Amino acid sequence: MSQKTPFTVVILLLLLVGFSAACRGQTGEAGPLGPAGAPGPIGPVGPAGQDATASQTYVGADTCGECHEDIYAKFNLSAHPHALSVIDGSQPQFPYDDITGGIVDPPEGYTWDDIALVIGGFGWKARFIGNDGYLIAGAADTLTQYNFANETVGKSAEWVAGHTAEEELFDCARCHTTGYVSQGHQDNMEGVVGSWQFAGVQCEVCHGPGSRHAADPYGVLMRVDRSSQLCGECHSRENPAIIEAANGFEIQYVHYDGLYNSKHFALSCVTCHDPHASVLYTDETVNPDGGITQQCATCHWQEKAVQNNRKHLGVQCTDCHMPPMGVSAQGDLDIFTGDLHTHQFSINPDPTAPQFANDGTQMMPYITLAYACQHCHNGDYAATQELETLATIAKGYHTPIVATPTPTPEPSPTPEPTPELEATPTATP
Ligand code: HEC
Ligand code: HEC
Ligand code: HEC
Ligand code: HEC
Ligand code: HEC
Ligand code: HEC
Ligand code: HEC
Ligand code: HEC
Repeated sequence: MSQKTPFTVVILLLLLVGFSAACRGQTGEAGPLGPAGAPGPIGPVGPAGQDATASQTYVGADTCGECHEDIYAKFNLSAHPHALSVIDGSQPQFPYDDITGGIVDPPEGYTWDDIALVIGGFGWKARFIGNDGYLIAGAADTLTQYNFANETVGKSAEWVAGHTAEEELFDCARCHTTGYVSQGHQDNMEGVVGSWQFAGVQCEVCHGPGSRHAADPYGVLMRVDRSSQLCGECHSRENPAIIEAANGFEIQYVHYDGLYNSKHFALSCVTCHDPHASVLYTDETVNPDGGITQQCATCHWQEKAVQNNRKHLGVQCTDCHMPPMGVSAQGDLDIFTGDLHTHQFSINPDPTAPQFANDGTQMMPYITLAYACQHCHNGDYAATQELETLATIAKGYHTPIVATPTPTPEPSPTPEPTPELEATPTATP
């Protein structure tokens, strides 16, 4: 045979292989992944992070104010930053000195050089701390506390005896300063319990220390805590279940405790309050709504619609539901008027209900008619009204009075003749 034969066989074989390849079935599913390969080498070390303690430092409200100008402006017109003032030989300044008269003098026998700190002085009263760090106190007749005048209570400014102890530690900074720790004595003042970063209740009490945020505001966010518990750390006494009372009034620092005992505990302080604004004073530019951002009627529109006393047109919800039944500085029990507003809200319309329990050291969890109504109905602002009379209006005060339909008289079988209309006597001129 010729040399052609092996060549033809090769061609035929190649054709066969190509043909059979064209006839193969579809590709099956991918099999399971094989085991992971060995880890690669460790990358290079990154740049050093910020010192962890840097996140702990307090920068003070003035620094926050460089960026948060609007909040800072109204905040400075509120009580918090003025809760404690450091004295440098002259009288401290407060934003509403023109209204209160300010703290012009230290207690008798002292000059401003003898005073290290003034606590309060914004709205109700002030007390003074000497250079040794002790609260200036003294015997029962020593006048060491200055009370501002209060028109509603009807009292003028006066010096009163603060506490009767001869020596009183300044154990107050927990609620009146920023960055407080209970260790140490601020500026080595023997009478001071604890130490702090800044005087007064500043931004960082509520938002946490802010040095990292101030350096990198978009990278590091501040804490925003909207709970009542935050406020309750200072606006509360030891046991919130008990609203403490003395001398016929709620004592100070019980706003949280009042709320705790009311159905409004479902709300938060900041449901109603702007935490950066004053309630005591309004300011046309930065605080026009007086620190209250939510009106009662937003939620209680039904109660707003029905009030069973037409003479109460100008009377506000808060006049009855948040009466001035607490005292910081000034109060007069004869007219049931103090200088703090209860946060209990609920009114008991029973004229015999007691207001106090435990010999007057504790409030019942409601407002009696004496406190709800008689701070007005005392013959001064409005006519004197006895509790019994008040109760007739108070019960169901917001319940619509439904006119009881007069029963239709039975038709008499013999219709009576209509009596002649008598001529109305005309008045002689
Ligand atoms: C350098 C400017 C600057 C400084 C200083 C500054 N902030 Fe801010 N802050 C900002 C900016 C910008 C934002 C908005 C960030 C964003 O929207 O992500 C902000 C946001 C906030 C928020 C809102 C956070 C949130 O989750 O809604 C709070 C609270 C706050 N800052 C508090 C403070 C406090 C307190 C201080 C002082 C300790 C302070 N800031 C200092 C610029 C600043
Ligand atoms: C539990 C927190 C707390 C402690 C502790 C505390 N205070 Fe206060 N203080 C407040 C609050 C809250 C207010 C304002 C609201 C109120 O009176 O209910 C206030 C208000 C004041 C005011 C009136 C402020 C003004 O502008 O008129 C003075 C003065 C004052 N405190 C002095 C003291 C002294 C003195 C001590 C220590 C013996 C002290 N406080 C301890 C929370 C506290
Ligand atoms: C008494 C506690 C408290 C103090 C003091 C305080 N804040 Fe606030 N702040 C809050 C609370 C609570 C909110 C959230 C309010 C809300 O959502 O109704 C808030 C919200 C904010 C916000 C974000 C929302 C907004 O209103 O724009 C900023 C920014 C802020 N605070 C900055 C500051 C600065 C700056 C200061 C000091 C000048 C300060 N805060 C002082 C409690 C406080
Ligand atoms: C660190 C303690 C502290 C915390 C936390 C605190 N407060 Fe205060 N608050 C005070 C003190 C002290 C005063 C009185 C300062 C003064 O008058 O000198 C005060 C005063 C006030 C006043 C009267 C303000 C005015 O200017 O008329 C209101 C309202 C108030 N606080 C609401 C709040 C709310 C709401 C919160 C929570 C978001 C809160 N507080 C958290 C200590 C605190
Ligand atoms: C954000 C909504 C809201 C606002 C604002 C509000 N309330 Fe209420 N209020 C409630 C809720 C919710 C209850 C509980 C209702 C219930 O349990 O039937 C309540 C209950 C009450 C009660 C009954 C309290 C009790 O313990 O029996 C009174 C009184 C009251 N509110 C008065 C007021 C007054 C006055 C204001 C304004 C200072 C006000 N509320 C603002 C939501 C609100
Ligand atoms: C003159 C005083 C007075 C005024 C003003 C007043 N209330 Fe009342 N309110 C009462 C009394 C009293 C009760 C209790 C009625 C009862 O228990 O039968 C009451 C009860 C309530 C209750 C509990 C539920 C109910 O209907 O009994 C709410 C909520 C309430 N008021 C909200 C308001 C709001 C919101 C305003 C303002 C628009 C307001 N009140 C104005 C005296 C007043
Ligand atoms: C339902 C709304 C509401 C809630 C919730 C509320 N408040 Fe108020 N608060 C007010 C109103 C309204 C005033 C002003 C009352 C007035 O001047 O007639 C006020 C006044 C104050 C004052 C000024 C002092 C005084 O007694 O007049 C302080 C301090 C205060 N509230 C603290 C708090 C704290 C702390 C909380 C939370 C535990 C809180 N409030 C919850 C409505 C509310
Ligand atoms: C803010 C002040 C204020 C408060 C709080 C107040 N009232 Fe009045 N009340 C008035 C005024 C003003 C009048 C009309 C003038 C007058 O009687 O002296 C009036 C009138 C009345 C009258 C006479 C009505 C009539 O038809 O002659 C009664 C009854 C009354 N109020 C009941 C109450 C009860 C009940 C409460 C408490 C739950 C209350 N008031 C709380 C201001 C107040």
